[in-house]
Amino acid sequence: MKKIYLSILSLGTICFLNSCYYDNHKELRPEAALPNSTSNCDTVNAISYSSQIVPILSSACLGCHNPGSGDLSNHSSVQAYALSGDLYTRVNTGNMPQGGPKLSDCDIAKIKKWVDAGAPNN
Ligand code: HEC
Repeated sequence: MKKIYLSILSLGTICFLNSCYYDNHKELRPEAALPNSTSNCDTVNAISYSSQIVPILSSACLGCHNPGSGDLSNHSSVQAYALSGDLYTRVNTGNMPQGGPKLSDCDIAKIKKWVDAGAPNN
């Protein structure tokens, strides 16, 4: 009986110790450690408003730009800023996000490509 307890205990210990193993993200993908690297930036395919532009705006812009103040929360409003050139110019110069760090080169490249395509609601 004692042997069974002992083997369960050692099995448990092995499982417990193994659970501490994790992959180091920066070691596996060194380019991901460089915030301004565009080498890993997928701008070959068409840029999707809903899956690529909205997440950028949500995390960097919507805190200030909600309905009522330069609304960036719906497509038609974002498209108007995109087509006037204001959206790209503001992020490319680093004027926006106001008071915050400039967007990554990859995010700026995605915005440019989406704007150049006519800022579609895709
Ligand atoms: C901390 C608040 C804040 C954040 C975050 C912010 N903005 Fe702004 N934004 C402002 C303010 C305030 C103005 C109005 C003053 C001005 O025009 O510079 C403005 C103006 C703008 C305008 C012109 C609006 C108009 O009606 O003419 C655009 C376009 C814009 N921001 C885009 C962005 C984008 C894109 C982001 C995210 C990448 C962003 N902003 C993040 C505060 C912010």
